[in-house]
Amino acid sequence: MKGPIGIFDSGYGGLTVFKSIVERLPQYDYLYFGDNGRAPYGDRSFETVYQYTWECVRWMFEQGCPLVILACNTASAKALRSIQQKELLQNYPDNRVLGVIRPTAETIGAFTQTGHVGVLGTRGTVRSESYPIEIAKFFPEVSVSQQSCPLWVPLIENNEHESAGADYFVKKYLDELLSGRPDIDTLLLACTHYPLLVSKIRRYLPAGISVISQGAIVASSLEEYLNRHPEMAARVATGERREFFTSGDAASFEEHASAFFGSAIEARAVGGFQK
Ligand code: DGL
Repeated sequence: MKGPIGIFDSGYGGLTVFKSIVERLPQYDYLYFGDNGRAPYGDRSFETVYQYTWECVRWMFEQGCPLVILACNTASAKALRSIQQKELLQNYPDNRVLGVIRPTAETIGAFTQTGHVGVLGTRGTVRSESYPIEIAKFFPEVSVSQQSCPLWVPLIENNEHESAGADYFVKKYLDELLSGRPDIDTLLLACTHYPLLVSKIRRYLPAGISVISQGAIVASSLEEYLNRHPEMAARVATGERREFFTSGDAASFEEHASAFFGSAIEARAVGGFQK
């Protein structure tokens, strides 16, 4: 039986990645699941992020997804390795779960001329040190400075990202990252929600700093993965179906999702995900 590719995020953010994936690989079926009922994940403990993420991924497997992309940096940083090494090996040996950190780390060195990259993410992603560790494997000469932006996801999840109030917190975190680091020339948005703030981010950045979102990077890495793994590509359905599920409220998911995905969608609510 063939099934859809699963795209997971704690809420809406993964839709920015999903949009790029669908543009690049429109032929496949996809199932998006947002754990909006329990978002944000950014400040939650390792154990909680792991438990929540695995519950959602297992549900996606039960819907028939042979492959799930964690389109969430926090889940990729805190849950991916345990899911791969424990759950998949023991219970789902033929299924695969991929994250967004490694493909981003593999390419980020190509964007910087000065060799100094700024990484913006949730507290969970920043504290995990996943980016400095992974980037050093591919680009040991590149310096990485990180900044957590704990208020950005709540602003976005509450649809306040275009409000004047958001400007204050965009400027605040950028100033904290850039002060005393004039050689940063590349800014990685290491949270799938942050592309929604990109116009405000650009407004407060000095000229000459490029802003990198992950959508296109993850989409191209998924294409390469499926080329390298024809046995997995053969298990993915190609009917161009897109389904959207949320552990939160379906009507509010539909209302907000278009800002992330770029077009209107229909969502269904799934119960049973306990806080
Ligand atoms: N979008 C998620 C990420 O990429 C985090 C959002 C959250 O805090 O739930 O890290």
